[in-house]
This record gives sequence, C-alpha cells and structure tokens, in this order.
Amino acid sequence: MLFGAISGFLASFLLTIDKIKILKDAKFNPSCNINEVLNCKSVMLSKQAEVFGFPNSLIGIGAFAIFIAVAIALLGKVDFPRWFVDVVIGASTAGKIYAPLDGKRSVSSMTITTEDGSAGSRGKVTDFLPEIIERFNIEVVYSCGPMGMLKAVNEITEKYQIVHQCAVEESMACGIGVCMTCVIPLRGADGIIRMSRSCIEGPVVDGSSVIWSEPRTIPEGTLGAS
Ligand code: FES
Repeated sequence: MLFGAISGFLASFLLTIDKIKILKDAKFNPSCNINEVLNCKSVMLSKQAEVFGFPNSLIGIGAFAIFIAVAIALLGKVDFPRWFVDVVIGASTAGKIYAPLDGKRSVSSMTITTEDGSAGSRGKVTDFLPEIIERFNIEVVYSCGPMGMLKAVNEITEKYQIVHQCAVEESMACGIGVCMTCVIPLRGADGIIRMSRSCIEGPVVDGSSVIWSEPRTIPEGTLGAS
C-alpha cells in the first residue's frame, strides 16, 4: 500500500509540474509524451483533465498523501476506527477465489491464501489470521466457510479474546424453522446448551456460543431445542 501510494503521489506531482510548464510555455513537451499516439499533452489539455476546474493531478496529490499517511500509520500499528475492513480469503486453488479484484476495491486490505500456492500465500486462512489480527489490531472477526474452518477461526479469536461472528454452514432443508435439519448446539446467555435451528437463530451466530467440539451431536447437558 505504501509503495503504491508513494508511486501515485510522485506521478501526480510530476503531472502537476508538467501542467504548470505547459501553461507557461505552450510548446513544452511533457515527459509522458512518448510519440504521436502515446501523447499525454493532449489529455492534459482536455476538459476531462480538469473536472473541477483545476488539474485532476492536484486531487491525486492530496489523495495519495492521505494514503501514504494511512500506510505509515498502519505500519506503526495505529489503532484505526472500525470502518477499516481487512479481508482474508482462502481456497484450495486460485480458480476458486471468488472475484478477488472486486473484493479488493471494497476493503482496506486483502490477503489471499491458497492451499496449493497458485495465488497469494500458500496455506490456509487460519495460518495468516493471527498475524493480521495483530498487525491491524482487529477487534471483530466475521467468518464464513466450512465448519472446520469456522472452528479453527474461533480458536484463534478466543485466544485473542475478540468477537467472532460466523455464518454457520449447516444443511438446511426447509430454511423456515420447521424441519430441524439445521440444528447446532448453542450455549445461550443463561449458560444452557440448546439444539438451535441455524436457519432461525442464525445463520450468523456468535462463535463463542457454538459448542464446536460436538457440532453434529447432542452434547451432554443439552436442554431441549429452540
Ligand atoms: S432448515 Fe428446516 S428448521 Fe432449519
């Protein structure tokens, strides 16, 4: 992020200098003019290059300066407000990573992992989650995926004592609370374990309330269903 922000800042800065030189001397040839086809001077003089009545590159200077500041702050482990979202997405292989570029545009950072190493870092999301929690000072983890992965994520969030909201992946036949195929053991606020319908109680539940050791059995002491 820091490298990209510095590159963007320098590019905006040089474009602004070139624009000033063109305004002083109409014959000035900016450094980005390569030939008659790859010619940035005509673009710099177009209306689109001054959407708000001044060179767009000035916006770039301001925006990239902010990104540089944020990147440096992240390196310094500054505690940012909760609207910063960092995503870890993993799959067995690169072809199974869903829309990584679209996702990357929507979040503060994205870490990709694949078990075969064909994209991002080799390994599972849970191999990298602890480092991300520490680096970005994460307070809440939202997870979805296979139950085994959710269980592993919950072990990590318990270790760091942070909130874990997970979308449980149980078979659902009716989806409206009638068939009871989707029950999982959940510990309520009263401390009692109940077989709860994930289609009604969830599917997003507090990870700390799930009895992960026995997800598809009825744990001892369970009191009825909800
Ligand atoms: S899917 Fe039927 S009760 Fe949940």
